[in-house]
Amino acid sequence: MSQPPVLIGADTTPRSQPPAHAFLDPELVASAVRLRDDAERMLMEHRFAVEEILTKVNILREEFLHLHNYNPIEHVGSRVKTMESILNKAVRKGCEPTIECIREHIFDIAGVRITCSFIADTYEILRALASQNDVRVLEIKDYIKNPKASGYKSLHAIIEIPVFLSTGPVPVNVEVQIRTIAMDFWASLEHKIFYKYRGEVPPHLAGELRDAAATAAQLDARMERLHAEVQGSARDDDAKSMDSTTVQQMVQFFRSTKTADSVHPH
Ligand code: GTP
Ligand code: MG
Repeated sequence: MSQPPVLIGADTTPRSQPPAHAFLDPELVASAVRLRDDAERMLMEHRFAVEEILTKVNILREEFLHLHNYNPIEHVGSRVKTMESILNKAVRKGCEPTIECIREHIFDIAGVRITCSFIADTYEILRALASQNDVRVLEIKDYIKNPKASGYKSLHAIIEIPVFLSTGPVPVNVEVQIRTIAMDFWASLEHKIFYKYRGEVPPHLAGELRDAAATAAQLDARMERLHAEVQGSARDDDAKSMDSTTVQQMVQFFRSTKTADSVHPH
């Protein structure tokens, strides 16, 4: 057989490898591309849902500060699961490779963690969030009242909120975890230990962790008692606020409206 003619000046270096998907069933590739596009849209909706919850939490924080003169929220964190982590969980849960199945079975794609100063605040924040008109509570797990065997304590809620897109509202689930600083401190260390030992925490460490959880609970109770005592005496200071410039301005305002009334009686 004669060789094909080689063009002078033509690139004779070997071509790079064809992409892996070139060997796959084109229908499978088309489904994967569709799923990727749907998943990207789903992730975007979850990012918006997180933003909505963060706004709600910020409003509650500021209002609390205004009403009670103290900030019940120490820290707020959030994350949207990565695509890889969603797909791994979908496989673990036996989901079909459809966005509908993922939405139906994975509720913690969007997560918001609220760290409060005291236990009473965790319940108060959950109550305030859950009672909002656009929030639907799908599930509450109270690991503060019923801690896990590991010692883990936290208040978990899966809530559904609408995200308003150009095409209309889309309901999105968000997992909200609410806990105290002491519980959070414990959980982050336990999480590191759990990962280090790939879930097989040696018994002596597991025992120490349970002890530490009990110590954290004692600290929470003690701090809450102290706080209640200090808050009680803070109320006695209310009279001091009479000195404030704003109060003086208000007094002035009352006086001037009275004078105006007497000048222009209705
Ligand atoms: P997931 O499949 O992980 O969502 O579990 P689940 O649906 O049974 O929910 P659960 O409320 O038990 O836990 C959800 C999340 O709470 C986890 O992803 C962790 O962030 C946190 N969590 C639960 N248990 C523990 C624990 O023992 N230690 C720590 N550090 N975190 C925990
Ligand atoms: Mg979960």
